Amino acid sequence: MKQFSFLAAFLMAFLIGAPVFAQDTPAIDKGLAPTPPMGWNSWNKFGCNVNEQMIHEMADAMVASGMKDAGYQYVNIDDCWQVSRDKNGNIVPDPQRFPSGMKALADYVHAKGLKFGVYSDAGTKTCAGRPGGRGHEFQDALMYASWGVDYLKYDWCSTGTQNAEASYKTIREALNASGRPIVLSICEWGTAKPWLWGAQVGGNLWRTTGDIMDKWDGTEKYSSGMLVNLDKQVGLESFAGPGHWNDPDMLEVGNGGMTNTEYRSHFSLWAILAAPLIAGNDLRSMTPEIKEILTNKEVIAIDQDPLGREGRRVWKDGDLEIWARPLADGSRAVVLFNRGTSEQPIKVNWTQLEYPAHLPATVRDLWQHKELGKFSGEFSAPVASHDVVMVTVKP
Ligand code: GLA
Repeated sequence: MKQFSFLAAFLMAFLIGAPVFAQDTPAIDKGLAPTPPMGWNSWNKFGCNVNEQMIHEMADAMVASGMKDAGYQYVNIDDCWQVSRDKNGNIVPDPQRFPSGMKALADYVHAKGLKFGVYSDAGTKTCAGRPGGRGHEFQDALMYASWGVDYLKYDWCSTGTQNAEASYKTIREALNASGRPIVLSICEWGTAKPWLWGAQVGGNLWRTTGDIMDKWDGTEKYSSGMLVNLDKQVGLESFAGPGHWNDPDMLEVGNGGMTNTEYRSHFSLWAILAAPLIAGNDLRSMTPEIKEILTNKEVIAIDQDPLGREGRRVWKDGDLEIWARPLADGSRAVVLFNRGTSEQPIKVNWTQLEYPAHLPATVRDLWQHKELGKFSGEFSAPVASHDVVMVTVKP
């Protein structure tokens, strides 16, 4: 009887066309981005100059360089892969630059054990003037799912009077309706305070700032240096958590506009912030120093700590700062940061870490990869100009 009812159910399901086995119907993955997404994106280095050959090479390099082994996963094409819509309204990838099509490209990336991402925009046009997603959300989501897209960055150009929260809710519903788990990266630049609603509408990360530029400090027309984006994170810490992250924008590490010391600071601070680690450099030609920064597993482990608590600035005196973050094992990650022009000692007190003043704790340096010993009450280190000392403090 049991056998009969299983057979009957199977036949019925077959007749009405419903999938019988669980693996045929991928459920929406509620566990998307349990830790901040890690990967690579084409924009910071290449802008509109993207093509399939380069994406192949970047996926190859992600594996060969040790980036994949260090935890990087997503290979994301930013703006300019799309050129038009066909007569049915389907989005058309640039046939010159992507002659094999997006499905073949996603297959290539997946075959390397990596994941594939694309970019679109909530308005009528992307920021580079390509067709946007407005009015085509469900159709686009189905297309992305059919290609095997795992990550969508959704921008905010040409949105007129659109409501940001409603627009991002629509694209999340469309992605869910496609049946494929797709990370949603909200790229609204912080204008409508996406930290207040981003998680509720199913965003997995949201930009908190305008575009980063490959400079230490300063602001130009549409973009700002690393320090400007860093300072804008203060006060937003409590909005981040597993599945929903503040995004101070992609990494500039290795793009040439900062010193290696400054890139080390940029990377350490993004890790203490639980920021997405989306590299933006040419992975095919990294110097050993840049590779060492991007693949420092001890620093990456801080970014990826499963507790998912974003760090905060616990002390500031002029150019000297202390940033700290509680970790899942009860220890703390600490960045001693010197924005100034000369070396200075920086001292962290245990009370700044919310530890009892005289608790003995082991301090480990995450850039020197060595234990510095047992300390009680405080730890102090000289910090070079524009540099960090990054440690864990473990009772
Ligand atoms: C906006 C985004 C950038 C990038 C460009 C592409 O400026 O904030 O990150 O995606 O658009 O045109």
